[in-house]
Amino acid sequence: MLPALTYEPLDPATVNNPYPVLAALREQAPVSWHDGMSSWLVTRYADCTAVLRDHTVFARDRRRTGQTVPAASLSVQSLDPPDQAGVRSLFMNALRTQDLPALEARARDRASVLLREAAERPSFEVMAELAAPLSLSVVCDLLGVDEPPLVEFAAASDAIMRSMDGGLDPSVVEPGRQAREELTTLVDSWFTETGRPSGLLAHVRAHTPAGADKAEELFVRNTARVMFQGGYSTMTAALGNALHTLTAHPEAQERLRANPRLVPKAAEELVRYDGPVQGTSRTATRTTTIAGIPIPAGDPVVLLFAAANRDPARFPDPDRLLLDRRDNRHLGYGWGTHSCIGTRAAQACVRAALEALRTHRTPLRLTGRTRRQPSATMRTFATLPATLQP
Ligand code: HEM
Repeated sequence: MLPALTYEPLDPATVNNPYPVLAALREQAPVSWHDGMSSWLVTRYADCTAVLRDHTVFARDRRRTGQTVPAASLSVQSLDPPDQAGVRSLFMNALRTQDLPALEARARDRASVLLREAAERPSFEVMAELAAPLSLSVVCDLLGVDEPPLVEFAAASDAIMRSMDGGLDPSVVEPGRQAREELTTLVDSWFTETGRPSGLLAHVRAHTPAGADKAEELFVRNTARVMFQGGYSTMTAALGNALHTLTAHPEAQERLRANPRLVPKAAEELVRYDGPVQGTSRTATRTTTIAGIPIPAGDPVVLLFAAANRDPARFPDPDRLLLDRRDNRHLGYGWGTHSCIGTRAAQACVRAALEALRTHRTPLRLTGRTRRQPSATMRTFATLPATLQP
């Protein structure tokens, strides 16, 4: 049996390409204890979905296992049903009222402008000049808020993203806390000043129960912050990964350029193939088993989406990029009560970027060395230099 210790998520080779070691884990020790992460690792698709389905046994809310959660972190993401239900349906209903086809059309226009500007130079930076500005504009458009200055916001967002690896690297925790505080001030201003009359947050403001107490109000604002920062950083990472995958598979990029009908399925397959969210965690509220392996009460469990999305028991030929893959219910957007609230908006944004790229007069090619962010939680690029010139 392969000890899970050989999985070192921050090892440069693993950051570069985690799929071989994840495949080895999935085949040889699909549910295994990892000393460094002090958690069980779960790598098979069926086991990940079984855990995510069972929120009575596997808690997201760490308070259910006697831990404390800072008030600033209490949001839709950290609560479990039934406490989570009110805030989750408030945001889900707000999303349903948004005109997503119109959002997608605006995202396509914005992506086309960014691509045209980038094409004027021999080389450009996909993350800073395309993925980040497009994601910020889509998330602000969706929420109905003004865009903050990209550079400052991106720095705060990166600090929050890095702090998710606090268990492996404690030095990232405090900068993350400070950045969260900075963003809280911005988010509060959306609730205290006269906000825009349209957009998702206008609906949230109008439908927050009149008698909401301070705690409920805090959940709503914290959830708005998670939508904003989490939505931006995951979108940015997803776009970078998707565009990188297309440059690494020029034949797939050519197929996409020739066939507009491929776009919706391609947007799903690219998130399955190399999605941004590497996994999520839960805590066992009582002694239980996963695939026959005993899990003691109180133990953390990490569900590795990146491994599950390449599980051959669920996806035929999982290491192949198949832009028209069928039955592609991957875990890139999670599963169950904590699945991504922004899925439909995110899918629209990925499609918009692919459509703009597809119709641009030249394909995208890399021009230099790429570099991944050293992160265990979010798979993303720090540098992705490319060209749109012939
Ligand atoms: C391609 C882009 C995106 C991907 C791949 C993605 C992926 C995910 C995943 C995997 C989860 C579940 C995490 C877990 O179970 O712990 C999640 C949760 C969430 N996502 Fe996304 N996301 C994306 C974009 C967005 C956007 C644009 C928004 C909002 C504007 C958003 C808002 C949220 C929220 C609020 C949650 C927490 C839901 C809950 O815990 O109930 N996401 N996302």
